[in-house]
Amino acid sequence: MKKIAVIGSNMVDLITYIDRMPAQGETLEAPRFAMGCGGKGANQAAAAALLGAHVMMVTKVGDDAFADTTLANFQRLGIDTRFVERVPGVSSGVAPIFVQENSHNSILIVKGANAHLTPADIDRAEPLLRDCALIVLQLEIELASVYHAIDVAHRLGVPVLLNPAPAVAGLSRQHLGRLDFLVPNESELALLTGQPVDSAEAAAKAARSLLEEGVRHVIVTLGEQGALYVGEQGEWRVEGHRVDARDTSGAGDAFIGCFAHHWSRDGDIHRAMQQAVAYSACSVTGLGTQSSYPDTAAFALFSAPLPA
Ligand code: RIB
Repeated sequence: MKKIAVIGSNMVDLITYIDRMPAQGETLEAPRFAMGCGGKGANQAAAAALLGAHVMMVTKVGDDAFADTTLANFQRLGIDTRFVERVPGVSSGVAPIFVQENSHNSILIVKGANAHLTPADIDRAEPLLRDCALIVLQLEIELASVYHAIDVAHRLGVPVLLNPAPAVAGLSRQHLGRLDFLVPNESELALLTGQPVDSAEAAAKAARSLLEEGVRHVIVTLGEQGALYVGEQGEWRVEGHRVDARDTSGAGDAFIGCFAHHWSRDGDIHRAMQQAVAYSACSVTGLGTQSSYPDTAAFALFSAPLPA
């Protein structure tokens, strides 16, 4: 089985469950705290690995105890860490996350060592990247490195997927045009296209404009409403599932890791989206980011409930 390469971020998530956000100058007691492994890149790698994919990560950790936590987690998941490096004198990436009772979250990220992942680091991984089924990217590393990874994938002829999160305005159109898969959520799609995205119809219209720029497949994640495909295979929607959501942190990453795993196996986009919608619905029923991701056995027990 060919590997999936994730070139991107890792973070340690510092998750506080809150009744409400404190006002300026106010101190509030919060009922619960948890620490877990996160970062959009590592989350996507973890989801794919838990489902049985062979995954390699190209990332940087810092010079602290959080780095040990992240490395041990990669090893537990069987993720290839040959291109995971420590950066002396720099903190690891961390993400303070606040989860409210309605399951919605607010996230701060401190990139730390992730900001030190350079184009030269990606070049060093090239001998392994050339044999991968898919290269998966997000935007929690420097943009120059993301663009370089897209160029390398293009030159090697390896399919490339970009999750444009967290949202950044003014992404290079030339690089967008080299993507096989672009997987934004609704707000990221709105920022990318400058178009309002307040309905599935508006999302389809905005996604179509990206096809004109050269993207082959746009998949818009719609939260509990499922996901939308607009691309060279046509247009369709995969319905979401009605679940009791407890924590939506990392649900988009769960979708992408699961999609990458299934698509890499057989190239069936529609089936991979169905699996990914169910997998991310399952993830929001648990707490935390990676801690809420099921492995193959646990996911098999998740009987996808009725469409939302
Ligand atoms: O997408 C969720 C992730 O965003 C969290 O794990 C956090 O680390 C931030 O990167």
